[in-house]
Amino acid sequence: MHLTNAEERILSGESGEVMERMFRLLVSLGDIYGADRMIPVGSAQVAGVSYKSIGDPGVEFLEDYANKGAVAKIVTFLNPAGMDIEDWQELNIPPSFAEKQLRIMNAFKKMGIVISATCTPYLAGNLPRFGEHIAWSESSAISFSNSVIGARTNREGGPSALAASFCGVTPNYGLHLDENRRPQVLVDVNATLEDTADFGALGYVVGKQVKNRIPYFRGIKDADTDQLKGLGAAMAASGAVALYHIENLTPEAHLMKSEGLERLSVSDTDLAETFSKLSTGKEPDIVIIGCPHASLKEIMTISRKLEGKKLKKPLWVCTSRMVKEAANRMGFTQTIEAAGGKIVADTCMVVSPIENMGYKTTGVNSGKAANYLPGFCKQNVVFTRLDTLLEKVT
Ligand code: F3S
Repeated sequence: MHLTNAEERILSGESGEVMERMFRLLVSLGDIYGADRMIPVGSAQVAGVSYKSIGDPGVEFLEDYANKGAVAKIVTFLNPAGMDIEDWQELNIPPSFAEKQLRIMNAFKKMGIVISATCTPYLAGNLPRFGEHIAWSESSAISFSNSVIGARTNREGGPSALAASFCGVTPNYGLHLDENRRPQVLVDVNATLEDTADFGALGYVVGKQVKNRIPYFRGIKDADTDQLKGLGAAMAASGAVALYHIENLTPEAHLMKSEGLERLSVSDTDLAETFSKLSTGKEPDIVIIGCPHASLKEIMTISRKLEGKKLKKPLWVCTSRMVKEAANRMGFTQTIEAAGGKIVADTCMVVSPIENMGYKTTGVNSGKAANYLPGFCKQNVVFTRLDTLLEKVT
């Protein structure tokens, strides 16, 4: 791997211990994957933010780096934390958990990292452009930025995204290269896709089969931003899909040849079986929407559906702080709260400790959440469309 003189000097420790360690990590990754050089990245997004995921060793590691003066060189956002940073008391988050989570956020802030805590940075003020190289680590955001925006990122781990944040570069391999962005499996969709949950079910089915390969979809006639984020999130969760193409929809699809690929097809029966397989519960104790984090449009839709209604069970809508601010201004938050629901920022159902809050069955419209909730949060799941979920709680 070719390194510039300035990069060699970082490796020799001229820029301090933290930079040396972080740069060495990037060089090792580059050596493993055959990168020819480092390339500049426009932004980073770091996972491993919730105290639930990183525990005490994570808190100590981050505080140590912050105290040693580590600073982000490029705009860097964070994945969801374990709680709403402002309203955690109202949500009954245990104080011992909150104390650790706040220490994590303070360490990131000290390092100049935007304490944004969202899996949809592209909806919250960190939007890469087509073709831009970035280093992101949230799997659903990786999928969205590669596929829907046409930016370029590998599936970074928390440490490698943090290293890219400090160094401003990433090794040039994998999805940064044209030749690795070509589709590998052709997926014929013969299913009715009407609701965001349908896209989540489709993503779950396809991710299971294609694993970490790149699918090329035919037969998806239309999809909005929310449906595409739901599709990619589910494929990244049930498989490890970091990039997909959709004929006539995503920006690189027309550059790709889909002839001669292995084929698979998805029918209405496949989607129905997925909804049924992932629904391990019947009646939810709580409904949580916003996996990936809800857009303003999704919040507006929920707010309109709840106007003048009273909820019998808790409803959370998870989103970024930035989108919540807009929802506050528009009165959507007030409408949802008047019905008895909550807009929860900075966190999500998977990384917050809902299993310690008395909930046993969670209703979701997300294929990714349905996939993870049983393992991460010991939840039974009701996986269905938004309207059905709202009927269950009103
Ligand atoms: Fe985001 Fe949490 Fe889902 S990080 S994609 S809301 S599991």
